[in-house]
Amino acid sequence: MSSLKIVLLGFGTVGEGVYQTIQTHQNRLQSLLGKKVEIVGVLVNDINKKRKIDQHVVITDDMDDLLEIPDVDVVIEAIVGVEPGYSYVKKSLDKGFHVITANKELLANKGKELKKQAVQNHVRLEYEAAVAGGIPIISTLRHLLRVNRITKIEAILNGTSNYILTDITENQTPFKDALYDAQQKGYAEADPSNDIDGWDAFYKLMILSDLLFGTQPSWDSIVHRGIRNVRDVDILAAHSIGCKIKHVASLVSEDGDVKLAVEPVVLPSSHALYSVDGVDNAVMVTGDIVGQLQLQGPGAGALPTASAIIEDLVNIYQIKENVYEESAVSFTSLSESALEDWL
Ligand code: NDP
Ligand code: HSE
Repeated sequence: MSSLKIVLLGFGTVGEGVYQTIQTHQNRLQSLLGKKVEIVGVLVNDINKKRKIDQHVVITDDMDDLLEIPDVDVVIEAIVGVEPGYSYVKKSLDKGFHVITANKELLANKGKELKKQAVQNHVRLEYEAAVAGGIPIISTLRHLLRVNRITKIEAILNGTSNYILTDITENQTPFKDALYDAQQKGYAEADPSNDIDGWDAFYKLMILSDLLFGTQPSWDSIVHRGIRNVRDVDILAAHSIGCKIKHVASLVSEDGDVKLAVEPVVLPSSHALYSVDGVDNAVMVTGDIVGQLQLQGPGAGALPTASAIIEDLVNIYQIKENVYEESAVSFTSLSESALEDWL
């Protein structure tokens, strides 16, 4: 049987989760894709670290070694920060490889350019894992956007912040201990200030803005605060009056004006995000036809993220072209009157 050859960039929480899932779900993948799925190379920072990787796999800290492997089909990128991920993804797309990335910072900064490059090179750039972990929010929005205009998103997009807020609320755990726990569980970013200063949720909201409108507002214009300065006493005081503090990312589109914010908010128990606890994320979406719907599930961690990445892998081979995203962007860029005619 021929094989689908994959190169994996990064072997941390996400990379190792993907590697293991491909081993444990090999039969299922073979029946879906008609081919054995084989990781042929892994890029890491430190080649001397002990890792559970088969002997035949190339392990290197030099991307060029991986680009020389013959007949690679897909590159899965799960390293940290804009660089070197940006250069590696560009090179991979240029070589004609499909790319799947979990890297939010890279996509928020360079997603538009990389998507364009993928289209030019007739390959796919997929990123389900980059927003809300295991929740299939990107594919859901692509489906909805075929006929709906999305008018509002209200979401919990950072698992680490939600984990910390929940642990303080329910167990009075000190902030730094709750953060340490989230790091040990593999939820936090390599630099956790990305989580607690709100950058991670901010990047995810920018990715959603790109998907919904084909553009992002100026970053300076967006309210952007993390949970670092939320005091334990405030969290407990909110709880004592039947409320909870949650880190909420929101996007409201009204009369051609789009307002975005990422900030800690006091939510009453009647709010749909009130009961989203622990590492869970949730996304409430309002579309002009569908009304309001909500998706909830694990927002971080090895296996939920691997699930999203493997979904992308299967979609690349089962849904021939990325028609959803292309139609979404052209649909949302229609003028109001054209939109009314179309409907
Ligand atoms: P980790 O810090 O656990 O792992 C990062 C991996 O990338 C390590 O294997 C590291 O190598 C390697 N790496 C880092 N920098 C370089 C570099 N310059 N060159 C080569 N290899 C490098 O991160 P995660 O696995 O948690 O996250 C990876 C990506 O996925 C990030 O972009 C993150 O935002 C995103 N993500 C994370 C989720 C999660 O739940 N953790 C969920 C969704 C997305 P070495 O092992 O040698 O240190
Ligand atoms: N650090 C991120 C979070 C990982 O806690 O949500 C998932 O994107």
